[in-house]
Amino acid sequence: MFTVSAGLALLLGAAPLLAHAQSSGNVSSCPGYTLDGLQETASGLLAQLSLAGKPCNAFGTDIANLTLAVTYETPDRLRVLIADAAGAQFMLPEAYFPRPTNETSTEDASDLVFNYDAQPFAFWVSRRSTGDVLFDTRLVSLPAAPTTALDGTPLDSFAFVFEDQYLQLTSSLPRDANVYGLGEVIATSGFRRDIAENGTLQTWWARDVTDPTNENIYGAHPVYLEHRVDTNGTASAAHAVFLSSAAGADVVLTTPAGANASLVQYRMLGGVLDFYFFAGPTPVAAVAQYGALVGTPAWVPYWAFGFHLCRWGYLDVNETREQVANMRAAGVPLEVMWNDIDMYHARRDFTTDPTSFPIDEMRTFIEELAANGQHYIPIVDAAIGHTANDTDNYFPFISGIEKNVFVTNPDNTTYIGQVWPGYTVFPDWFAPNTEGWWGEAITNWSDSGIEFSGLWLDMNEASSFCVGSCGTTGNLSDTTTPVSLPGDPGNLVTDYPEGYNSAIWGPSGNITINGTLTFGNDTVVASSAGFAVPDDELAASTQFGKRADTLRNLNVPPYTIHNGFGDLSVHTIATNATHANGFVELDVHNLFGYMEERTTHLALLKNQPDRRPFLISRSTFPSTGHWSGHWLGDNFSKWAYLRYSIQGVLQFQLYQIPMVGADTCGFIGNTDEELCNRWMSLSAFVPFYRNHNQRGALSQEPYRWDSVAEATRAAIAVRYALLPYWYTLFANASTLATPPVRALFWNFPDEAELLGVDLQFMIGDNVLVTPVTAPNVSNVDGIFPGRGNVVWRDWYTHEIVNATAGTNTTLDAPLGHIPVHIRDGAALLLHIQPGYTTNETRAAPYALLLALDGTGAAFGNAYIDDGVSNPGVDGTIANRSLTFTVGNGTLSVRGAGEFKVLQPVARVTVLGVSTPPTNVSENVTYEADLGRVNITGLALDLNEDTTLSWA
Ligand SMILES: *[C@@H]1O[C@H](CO)[C@@H](O)[C@H](O)[C@H]1NC(C)=O
Ligand SMILES: *[C@@H]1O[C@H](CO)[C@@H](O)[C@H](O)[C@H]1NC(C)=O
Ligand SMILES: *[C@@H]1O[C@H](CO)[C@@H](O)[C@H](O)[C@H]1NC(C)=O
Ligand SMILES: *[C@@H]1O[C@H](CO)[C@@H](O)[C@H](O)[C@H]1NC(C)=O
Ligand SMILES: *[C@@H]1O[C@H](CO)[C@@H](O)[C@H](O)[C@H]1NC(C)=O
Repeated sequence: MFTVSAGLALLLGAAPLLAHAQSSGNVSSCPGYTLDGLQETASGLLAQLSLAGKPCNAFGTDIANLTLAVTYETPDRLRVLIADAAGAQFMLPEAYFPRPTNETSTEDASDLVFNYDAQPFAFWVSRRSTGDVLFDTRLVSLPAAPTTALDGTPLDSFAFVFEDQYLQLTSSLPRDANVYGLGEVIATSGFRRDIAENGTLQTWWARDVTDPTNENIYGAHPVYLEHRVDTNGTASAAHAVFLSSAAGADVVLTTPAGANASLVQYRMLGGVLDFYFFAGPTPVAAVAQYGALVGTPAWVPYWAFGFHLCRWGYLDVNETREQVANMRAAGVPLEVMWNDIDMYHARRDFTTDPTSFPIDEMRTFIEELAANGQHYIPIVDAAIGHTANDTDNYFPFISGIEKNVFVTNPDNTTYIGQVWPGYTVFPDWFAPNTEGWWGEAITNWSDSGIEFSGLWLDMNEASSFCVGSCGTTGNLSDTTTPVSLPGDPGNLVTDYPEGYNSAIWGPSGNITINGTLTFGNDTVVASSAGFAVPDDELAASTQFGKRADTLRNLNVPPYTIHNGFGDLSVHTIATNATHANGFVELDVHNLFGYMEERTTHLALLKNQPDRRPFLISRSTFPSTGHWSGHWLGDNFSKWAYLRYSIQGVLQFQLYQIPMVGADTCGFIGNTDEELCNRWMSLSAFVPFYRNHNQRGALSQEPYRWDSVAEATRAAIAVRYALLPYWYTLFANASTLATPPVRALFWNFPDEAELLGVDLQFMIGDNVLVTPVTAPNVSNVDGIFPGRGNVVWRDWYTHEIVNATAGTNTTLDAPLGHIPVHIRDGAALLLHIQPGYTTNETRAAPYALLLALDGTGAAFGNAYIDDGVSNPGVDGTIANRSLTFTVGNGTLSVRGAGEFKVLQPVARVTVLGVSTPPTNVSENVTYEADLGRVNITGLALDLNEDTTLSWA
């Protein structure tokens, strides 16, 4: 759901001069620090850092005394914490984060080594096994002092700056280093970040904005993966670096002209420097080590891997129900139906509109879904509507006021912003009563008839349409002007689809789909009444200038990060708003979404301890994956955004929020048949598979076009066959933190030609997806990793790809077909017969696909449980873990765990068999051209160890 942007360009007046040191903005005279008082500890070292000269007060006040704590936490994780000795700077409140407790190791056990210079203080982290320096804050001499880095801000020294409102730390990196992460971002450079001269200036400040490129968007993830491949392409190593901080910040990646090094520079608005280094040395290991710190991803219910359908603009319960019926009639599987804010009464959370979504009809509708093995997910916006007057009995607001659960102004009055309901208040997730209050609101809603299976958390950056506060209770203007929504008269979504072709769609400019007029530039969509928001005048009367914190400038910090909206309080809660624990919004802004996800997950768990909560949320932060999945936000119905969706999915694997996907077919603007066809095919191979559309745009449910319905059925058939594989990958993610979806180089780290590949991806170790990402083509180029040493077989035909080693191969990909390939050596457990729902799919027997390697071997594993239970206090779920080992013409199945698997394996397909089986029969056939043995009519019981031979 995107938001109204009118009136947001308001510029704030100059901030009052504050009581802190005059800022110069010049870091070149900053004195740095001297290390002394070094103490070795069992697991690292402690030392003091003292300011080495006259304070520079570049963007705030230099802090004279710092402490350095270096901890070898595990053999592959090193923590370097530099904090103010006084402990006054904001630190991430670890109580709210799923972190391992008190893990300690020793320097000797670690592949990472902390090294330092005492004067001026600098440190570097090296890899013991290779001597490689991974991160290095020492001065490097540059051929010419770089004077600008992208934005004209001087990058004129490596000055290490630690001030109350500005921290700067720079590390040199190998020239043109391969760096991934540091988002959330839609980077035009692709998954690999741009580190050229004018490389990257990434800002971390959570922002509700319709998917711009190369700017800060919904979430903040100060973590990167760096991968190094030696010039011979024979050895490689990856590591990861995480800055555990919620501070608003810029990070710069650049290679100064003529320099033989690249740089990463952090510029933070506060807090402390809390770095974690992860040794890898494979990309998958480095990502998993990060996950072991920030918390493994939440268990995902089986049904959540089904197909989800949503749009803003299903205007009543019957229109919503009609989609379910139309999907069924078209034979396109639908697992989960969603509603956007259309369902709300007065656009308020935890309500339903009595006219268009009457609660009794909603209850019946959701019960119908459940009876058909389908699910329902409604939206929950972050802000809570403010009541209009004393007779306005909106319980979540009234009880929230009573329980002190809302964000306040510095003078302790309730902070009031404005979102869809008009004036709103914002839950303070740090307040002691919030979790109980929020849980009660959710439970009341569910009990009243909205018996959801999961929740969709939106607008949690948090989004607010005023610039700063809209006023205070009793002092709110009732001057309101209606806001026109997309699809309302005068605000029609009239852009022609990117792929519009008048020769095909009709010279009149009218688009018909399957014979029905669907869109023209004079299309009028049924309107709903505009709703009231305060006018710009009110929005401009912000409440800045009242500060609890007299030392810092909370409203306009001296250093200006490159927030896409400019001022930090635009389109969100003002930075001087206050939270429980004395926290101010400036410090905790980037945590709003995270805290909502944690609170909601815990509330759902409290209500139903045995059931896995399922959440999809927009604003994310490190550790979000432990509580929630993510969708990639408000994208556009354009080919570029289909392509960007792949880097988005890859980024969130690195961020340990693997349950992720884009609004398929595009959210904003009008999609077209070809784009929607290719996108429905692509997203079937992405963890979270949802089609979501904007209000007023051309309808884009997959049944609307015959070709899209057909492509979707075909892709879902593959997806549902592969569900046991997906589910196993996600069980591994939830237990081992290994990423389910992978960039190609994550699985083939020595192959430098893969470092920039982000239009293909792998699912686990064994499935390679090569989607079509451009219009008007019937083939696609893709690289087949392994440099000729891996045999790749086509999923559909089982034929071996005649791939060119190390470079692209062109594949046939007519509309409706997405190339998918299986790596040799893989043993995949599949569902034999994809059904309409995941329940039906799971009720059918299993099949095994064994793709033998050159030695006749294959290996695979599978994790099976009931698909909905949540781990108990001991962290386990009744399950069965299976291994499939193939050699010498024999399959051996071994299992562990008490979960009873009801479905047997009914069919085994073996690929790569060169000698015909000895006992060919009705149930054992052999196709010499494919080297394929088909064994049918089986009933292998997965509750027992078994072997099966065909040789
Ligand atoms: C910093 O530490 C030194 C030595 O302990 C002490 O003398 C000095 O007062 C401290 N400065 C501040 C600003 O705390
Ligand atoms: C972790 O270590 C601290 C300091 O030694 C101690 O107070 C705390 O009880 C420990 N926590 C756990 C869970 O062991
Ligand atoms: C970097 O940006 C500056 C300023 O816009 C420009 O003069 C310079 O040519 C750019 N350098 C490169 C390598 O593009
Ligand atoms: C590349 O290979 C050559 C010859 O084997 C070796 O001498 C050289 O050290 C290797 N280079 C790197 C960067 O490993
Ligand atoms: C939905 O359709 C039913 C059957 O036609 C009708 O009784 C009901 O009023 C409709 N509900 C709404 C909200 O329009």
